[in-house]
Amino acid sequence: MKHYLSINDIPDMYQALKEMQDVKNDLYAFAKAGTHKTLGLLFFNSSLRTRMSTEKAAIQLGMNVQILNINSDSWQLEFTDGRIMDGTKAEHIKEAAGVLSQYCDVLGIRAFPGLIDKSKDETEEVLSAFVAYATVPIINLESSTAHPLQGLTDAFTIGELTKEIRAQGKTPKVVLTWAPHPKALPHAVANSFIQTMKRLDVNLTITHPEGYDLNPEIVKDIPIDYNQNSAFSDADIIYVKNWSSYQTYGKILSKDPNWMITQEKISHTNNAKVMHCLPVRRNVVIDDAVLDSSASAVIQQAGNRTIAAQWVLKKILDYGS
Ligand code: CP
Repeated sequence: MKHYLSINDIPDMYQALKEMQDVKNDLYAFAKAGTHKTLGLLFFNSSLRTRMSTEKAAIQLGMNVQILNINSDSWQLEFTDGRIMDGTKAEHIKEAAGVLSQYCDVLGIRAFPGLIDKSKDETEEVLSAFVAYATVPIINLESSTAHPLQGLTDAFTIGELTKEIRAQGKTPKVVLTWAPHPKALPHAVANSFIQTMKRLDVNLTITHPEGYDLNPEIVKDIPIDYNQNSAFSDADIIYVKNWSSYQTYGKILSKDPNWMITQEKISHTNNAKVMHCLPVRRNVVIDDAVLDSSASAVIQQAGNRTIAAQWVLKKILDYGS
């Protein structure tokens, strides 16, 4: 694998999941694969899981890791070609990406969307510029439209959580549900989740209030139910996520607390496990009773972030050798 920018960079999802199980069974099987290699992690936005799990994965492969919080620790970067740089931005991406490629063998980039200009966000300005001007492989640590490390993690975690159901010859019912949130959030996690589920043998349903339909190209062929209660019926997995409106781009159209995930709602599922990429706002998105119950799989899910990152890093190291 040259770069890991989207879930579509994985040629065979089931082979990837099998290899991820091998990683989980023996975390140090390739403890020298990354000797004398450096992973640079660049954050334009905050992180807990992505930063810590990707760093841990790299260390387990024997890599060195350098982390830069771009907005607080570094020069502000200019991305526009031909700009007269007499403002606040002191360094152009052309030099920055070229220089970082001298220090690092792989670069991970986190850069969220502005959620103001859909067309601009969909160009993936930051991620695309690193791909264009860096000379080393790039990993998407969550961009404007995709969070493929999270998507891969979610596929693996759903595999773990649905073993018994699949052993009975059943196809798991997976529900992606919108839930309320006080801030306007990106579409990246939901997009990558849907793209990943499309590649698995699961029955996926999406439920959200009207006005929250995601990118039609991504949700194509997936049933949408505007009634959360009926969507939850017989569900084996409830995947919870907020996103802002895609049509009325970046806007909050509803904060309806009736969409929060409660134990009463989970009681109408097939003993569903509840997933969320985290961070989660308790008693706004999911209530305490669910998060503190055995239905919650959020800690297991977050633990698997290391497995996904380690699989991706090993594939990139193998490509270069
Ligand atoms: N799920 C996720 O990406 O978590 P962080 O934002 O903390 O990295």
